[in-house]
Amino acid sequence: MLNHVLLHQTVIGLEAKQQMEMAGEYPDVVIGCVGGGSNFSGLAFPFLQDKLTGAREKLQALAVEPAACPTLTRGRYAFDFGDAAGMAPIVKMYTLGHTFVPAAIHAGGLRYHGDAPILSALYEQKLIDAVAYTQVPVFEAAVLFARTEMILPAPESAHAIKAAIDLANEAKESGEEKVILFNLSGHGNFDLAAYDAYHNGSLENFELAQEPIDEAMAALPAV
Ligand SMILES: Cc1ncc(COP(=O)(O)O)c(C=O)c1O
Repeated sequence: MLNHVLLHQTVIGLEAKQQMEMAGEYPDVVIGCVGGGSNFSGLAFPFLQDKLTGAREKLQALAVEPAACPTLTRGRYAFDFGDAAGMAPIVKMYTLGHTFVPAAIHAGGLRYHGDAPILSALYEQKLIDAVAYTQVPVFEAAVLFARTEMILPAPESAHAIKAAIDLANEAKESGEEKVILFNLSGHGNFDLAAYDAYHNGSLENFELAQEPIDEAMAALPAV
């Protein structure tokens, strides 16, 4: 995922900022799911600007990934190929290794082994946080959202929804007031087979062992 794709998508965050302003609000937390990093960064970067200038020091940006492809939460900050074939340029990024093959989760858009270099650098510098979820609780959140909002979210986006719900519940319990902004990166109208699997109980939670990660790490290019 090239950095310029992230920058193009900052139109999302710029617009969200204006919408928040119209609502008389500013988020405490900005959330997005992360495949290669573009929709999350597109939303979060314009807000992170305010964190970096000191205007909004407490702003939290939270990247959400699948536990089956936990690039930020379990990967390494290293030089690696951008593609599985080893033909794309080598960049420094969080990676699970270009030979890593994630389980066949329904959020196909979150199965990329690496993350964009800018996003990776921000994570390394602890300017953003990351969390990973398995897919059954993610679909639970997706169905709750669909029933509440009448919008069927993409399985990728449902990762962000799950985090937003968790943070809202935590705030409710602690009595803290929190403004939570998340990116609904796409609809799930073509993911009905995944929803069907969730409803008929055949959706699997993939717990990722350490060996496949170690194996892929051993195949990182020597730089
Ligand atoms: C709906 C949806 N959201 C999120 C993503 C993840 O990509 P990125 O992290 O680059 O935004 C994808 C990728 O295919 C997607 O289809």
